[in-house]
Amino acid sequence: MLFSYSLLLLASLVSSVTVPLHKNAGWVIRDGTELKLEGKRFTTGGANVYWLGLDENVIPPKGKPFYAPFNASYPTFGRITEVMNTLNTLGATVLRSQTIGVSVGNPLSIMPALGHYNEQAFDTIDWAVYEAGRHGIRIMAPLTDNYDYYHGGKFDFLRFRGFNLTYNSSGDQNPEVMQFYTNRTIINDFKAYIKHIILHRNKYNGLRYADDPTIFGYETGNELSGPIFGDKNVPISWTSEIAEFVKQLAPRKLVIDGTYGINETHLGIEAVDIYSDHFYPRDNIKLEDDISAVYAANKAYIIGEYAWNNYNYGNPLPATTPSLADFLSSIQTAVLSKRARCTGDLFWSLFGHDVPNCHQYVNHTDGFTLQYGNPLNMVENNTNIATIRQHLFKLQGRDVGNSLPSSQCPGPR
Ligand SMILES: *[C@@H]1O[C@H](CO)[C@@H](O)[C@H](O)[C@H]1NC(C)=O
Ligand SMILES: *[C@@H]1O[C@H](CO)[C@@H](O)[C@H](O)[C@H]1NC(C)=O
Ligand SMILES: *[C@@H]1O[C@H](CO)[C@@H](O)[C@H](O)[C@H]1NC(C)=O
Ligand SMILES: *[C@@H]1O[C@H](CO)[C@@H](O)[C@H](O)[C@H]1NC(C)=O
Ligand SMILES: *[C@@H]1O[C@H](CO)[C@@H](O)[C@H](O)[C@H]1NC(C)=O
Ligand SMILES: *[C@@H]1O[C@H](CO)[C@@H](O)[C@H](O)[C@H]1NC(C)=O
Ligand SMILES: *[C@@H]1O[C@H](CO)[C@@H](O)[C@H](O)[C@H]1NC(C)=O
Repeated sequence: MLFSYSLLLLASLVSSVTVPLHKNAGWVIRDGTELKLEGKRFTTGGANVYWLGLDENVIPPKGKPFYAPFNASYPTFGRITEVMNTLNTLGATVLRSQTIGVSVGNPLSIMPALGHYNEQAFDTIDWAVYEAGRHGIRIMAPLTDNYDYYHGGKFDFLRFRGFNLTYNSSGDQNPEVMQFYTNRTIINDFKAYIKHIILHRNKYNGLRYADDPTIFGYETGNELSGPIFGDKNVPISWTSEIAEFVKQLAPRKLVIDGTYGINETHLGIEAVDIYSDHFYPRDNIKLEDDISAVYAANKAYIIGEYAWNNYNYGNPLPATTPSLADFLSSIQTAVLSKRARCTGDLFWSLFGHDVPNCHQYVNHTDGFTLQYGNPLNMVENNTNIATIRQHLFKLQGRDVGNSLPSSQCPGPR
C-alpha cells in the first residue's frame, strides 16, 4: 500500500517535471496524398470543438462578458483545459474549431466592426492554442463561415460594406452573395482580417499563430458555397488568392479548401493542400467518390465533420446509412493503406462540463452533441463513443478496449 503510494507519487512528480510546455515542436507537412510529421505518417483523427474561442451555450455569471442577442460568452479556461484532457483520453490528434478563426460582427468578436479589433477576444483562443500545444493536439481552423451564426462569417463582411442580404438556411438565394468572393473591396477586407489573426502573438506561449506548429492548417472557410446551399460555387480565383495569402503570412501552414464538398475544378489549386467534406448523414459512396477524386489529384483528403450518432438532426437515419463502425472502418482502411488515401476524420461535436462546475454538462441542441463521460448518456451513445475511441487510437497504430476511461475535469482556476 505504502509502497505503491510512493511509486505513484514518484510517477506524478516525474511526469510533472517532464511534461513539456509545448509538445508540438515539429511541423506537419504534406507529401502527396499524405501528411507527415518528422518523417512519419501523421493522421488527423479527432473532434470538432467549435466553441473554444467564443461560446453560445452558457449564460455566464453576472459581470462576465455576455452578448445577449446571440447568447455569446467566452468559455472558461477550465472548459478548454478539460476538453483537451478528453481529446487525449479519446486518442485524438487533431481538433477543428470554427471560433479559433471565425470571430467577427458582435461585440465579443476579434473584429466587432470592420477594421476595429478587440484584443480581449484572443484570450480564450490563445489559451486554447497553448493548451492544445501542451496536450499534443493539432488545430485546424476555418477563417470564415458560410452561415450567419453567432461567431460571424461571410455575411458580416458583406454587411460591413452595405450589402444587406438576408440569411436563408436553404441557401443565400441572392446572387449578390457571390460578391464575398468577387468584390475586390470585400476580398481585401477579409485579407486584412486574416492578417490580423495569423500575425497575432499568443500571450501564453509567446508564439505568433503563424509560427506555432500547433495550428497545422487554416481552412478557407466552413461549408462555403454560392447562392444555393451545397452548390460548391466558390470561385477558383478566390480560393487560390486566400490560400496563397495564408502561405505568404505563414509559409509552413497547410491550407484546406473550405468549399462544402469536393469541387473537382479546385483540385489543381497549387496552394491548397487538403480537400474535405462533411457527412450528414454518413455515406460510404460519397466517401469513396471524394477519396478517388482527391487521390487522383495527389492531394490530401480529410473528413472535416461527420454525424457520429444514430440520428439525422434528431430524425431516424435513412436506411442506406452505414453504421458508425462501418463508416469508420472504411476511413481506417483508407488512412492506413500503403499510400494514404485519406488523413483522418473529425466527429461533430465535442462538449464537456460547465467548468468550474464538474457535475453538469454543457448542452447544445443541434442533435449531435457528444458529452464524454456524462452519466446520463444512454448505452447506445456510449457504444458509439467507444467505437470512436477505438478508431482514433487505431489511426495511431494502437489497440484499445471498449472502455471509456474518465477524463480529468480541472475545476476552478
Ligand atoms: C439564449 O438562451 C436562452 C436560455 O437558454 C434561450 O431561451 C434563448 O432562446 C437563447 N437565445 C438565443 C438567441 O439563442
Ligand atoms: C464592391 O463593393 C463596394 C462596396 O460596397 C461597392 O462600392 C462596389 O460597387 C462593389 N463592386 C462591384 C463590382 O459590384
Ligand atoms: C437589412 O435587412 C433587414 C431585412 O430586410 C432589415 O430588417 C434591416 O434593417 C436591414 N439592415 C440594414 C443595416 O439596412
Ligand atoms: C429561402 O428562400 C427560398 C427561395 O427564395 C424560399 O422558398 C424559402 O422559403 C426561404 N426559406 C426560409 C427559411 O426563409
Ligand atoms: C466549382 O467551381 C467552379 C469554379 O469556381 C464553379 O464555376 C462551379 O460552379 C463549382 N461547382 C461545381 C459543382 O463544380
Ligand atoms: C444539461 O441538461 C441536463 C439534462 O436536462 C441537465 O441536467 C443539466 O443541468 C444541463 N446543463 C446545464 C449546464 O444546464
Ligand atoms: C443518445 O441516445 C438517446 C437515446 O437513444 C438519443 O435520444 C440521443 O439523441 C442520443 N444522443 C446523442 C447525442 O446521440
